Amino acid sequence: MSIYIDPAVASSLRGFEMPEKLGFGKVMAPVMFRAVCQDGCWSRGELLPYAPLALDPAAKVLHYAQSCFEGMKAYRVQGGGVGLFRPERNAARMVHSAERLCMPPVPESLFMDGVRTVSAYCANLVPANSGESLYLRPFLMGTQPDLSVSTSSTCEFYVIASPSEAYHPGNMRLWVERENARAALGGTGDSKVGGNYAASLLSVARLKERGYDQSLWLNPGNRRTVDELSGMNFFAVLDGELHTPALNGSILEGVTRDSLIELARDLGYRVREREIDIDELLGQVESGRCEEAFACGTAAIISPISVFGDGEREYRPAKAPGPVAERLRAALLDIQEGRAEDRFGWMQAV
Ligand code: COI
Repeated sequence: MSIYIDPAVASSLRGFEMPEKLGFGKVMAPVMFRAVCQDGCWSRGELLPYAPLALDPAAKVLHYAQSCFEGMKAYRVQGGGVGLFRPERNAARMVHSAERLCMPPVPESLFMDGVRTVSAYCANLVPANSGESLYLRPFLMGTQPDLSVSTSSTCEFYVIASPSEAYHPGNMRLWVERENARAALGGTGDSKVGGNYAASLLSVARLKERGYDQSLWLNPGNRRTVDELSGMNFFAVLDGELHTPALNGSILEGVTRDSLIELARDLGYRVREREIDIDELLGQVESGRCEEAFACGTAAIISPISVFGDGEREYRPAKAPGPVAERLRAALLDIQEGRAEDRFGWMQAV
């Protein structure tokens, strides 16, 4: 199906001025992609000027959190052009999230039309500085106006974009969250749904008062092993090996996580996906066996962890950033920004 391009898109793009300071997700590109699904049938995609949405106050998304999203980036590629990084992984993950919330999966071709069209029309808005990019935010929500707790007969899919810096540049101070949980056993932890992030806010508000940046979530079942951060996966370097929590149903399967595992193995590191006991880990930080730890995600890329706060105590990895995080960050960005050969076939030109 061909994509409808609203004639007002051209003037929206012409009128856009890129601010000097980007931040993350603060500046919105002046266009958006939309498609509507009514009783299982998808409309054609449309590229429209960016504008507020008209939502019925009884729309299910507003009451029952029927919403899921993706985070991905369009990169300025050395030598010219714009590239997407493993977009098919985001399309597949959105199918998983939609199915978990009983929404119609966005067909891969429609998802790709959305992210490609927005990236192509916004090609001049993709920042050129390394580590900056056009952050893409596809999202899907149930819009049927009906207060019964039931699946939505109408869903809307959008792609918006934001020229952005990395989510959390610099080192991160983590708070080991022993009280709240981000996800429940059998819940939505492995789906990218808005409710997971809403559930993280109270912990983050409390830890910010204590001078920390992010919560380190423990598994909701055992309250003992590390799951992830709110929008990032976790890695520790132990005796030169990379350790990351194994996927267990309450961890989001990060595209950056998966890519770093592959990249690290290719660079000769041993990588282990396993349960990581928090008390053991803190002991290993204290004894120096765990020299570095970092978080990773599409928005964040790689953020070194300088402190783990746990109750009244603090544990500091010897190196933040450490050499492994720095090497992996450079190797990943070299592929994404076109300075290194794409030996895994991860990049797609827009
Ligand atoms: C991403 O890395 O794209 C994310 O979705 C994290 C975001 C919640 C800031």
